[in-house]
Amino acid sequence: MAEDTSVPSDGLTAGYAAVVWNSPAGPADLPNVAILDQTRLPHVVDVVVARSWKTVASAIRTMQVRGAPAIGIAAAMGVALAAHEAPDDSSRFHAFVEDACADLATTRPTAVNLFWAIGRMRRCLSALRARSAGADECRRVVEAEALSISREDAASCHAIGTHGMSLFSAGDGVLTHCNAGALATGAWGTALAPIFLSHRAGVRLHVFVDETRPFLQGARLTAWELMEAGIDSTLITDSMAAHFMGQGAIQKVIVGADRIAANGDVANKIGTYGVAIIAREHGIPVYVAAPTSTVDLSLASGREIPIEMRDPAEVTSFRGHPVAPTGMHALHPAFDVTPAKYVTAIITEVGVHYPPFGPALASAVASTQAR
Ligand code: MRU
Repeated sequence: MAEDTSVPSDGLTAGYAAVVWNSPAGPADLPNVAILDQTRLPHVVDVVVARSWKTVASAIRTMQVRGAPAIGIAAAMGVALAAHEAPDDSSRFHAFVEDACADLATTRPTAVNLFWAIGRMRRCLSALRARSAGADECRRVVEAEALSISREDAASCHAIGTHGMSLFSAGDGVLTHCNAGALATGAWGTALAPIFLSHRAGVRLHVFVDETRPFLQGARLTAWELMEAGIDSTLITDSMAAHFMGQGAIQKVIVGADRIAANGDVANKIGTYGVAIIAREHGIPVYVAAPTSTVDLSLASGREIPIEMRDPAEVTSFRGHPVAPTGMHALHPAFDVTPAKYVTAIITEVGVHYPPFGPALASAVASTQAR
């Protein structure tokens, strides 16, 4: 029997999902997209109900939904909502949905999953247009495509978890940075998937959670997911990682990725690069977990990856409370690029890939395209 890779309901990841498509309750209703508002977690569990693609775009921009695969899924569902909002007339239908695709593609620049998912929706729409499919058929087909993107991501993350489990041993201290859990994906997470599946298999790990200044994805989201799953974990500030590595408390590092260039350079949450350098100094392996939809073979190296610059007010303040002198200049790159030489292995749904990453990533991507 095929293994169930859908959203788990046994307490692991608590059965929550970052983005859910809700079909209309009656023939007169429109569908909606329910987005778990990640800006309010962990203290408020609230859901944004998007009835228009514009609300989905705004949720991605404001990081109510975030994490590379999750924003791809949200964007795909936004395109499907646009198809339901669009007029029936064929050319107006396609112009309306294309406008939505174009705007959704401007929401965040670094995670390639956003562009990958919108590209897949566009290809689906052009095939429908080429055979003059009517608006209702287009709506059904693009909705099914968005749901496939979500389901396939959940299955990829489960496969990442299965492959990644082999890299961890009972008693390991494992450091993670940012949030690459179920909240950031269709289910299971990427970096957290091997941790969730190890726990389910009775392999006890201790997870060190970097708080991940300034947006606090570690403190707010990863800590919440691990606590909900009953996994031993300790929250540390980003500046404590070297201290705990030096004390021998950390044996492995695992992080997610927003975009991986063809040579294996990895863009991930700001601070990942520093963690990787410190880990190298201490002889600690650094694993990057990501589906092949995060691999961008069109970019030769990480130097070409666009880095999102966010509001410096998130640096000069802490959760809305000013911490720097009024008027202080600050910068807020949301991601950095870890050169491939600091990465021990990249875990995708296809397997665990070791350097040289160029050929390994090219064949991993080719094998998923051949499916
Ligand atoms: O700015 P965010 O919160 O969207 O950044 C998220 C990350 O950097 C994650 O590590 C990455 O997207 C992988 S999520 C499976």
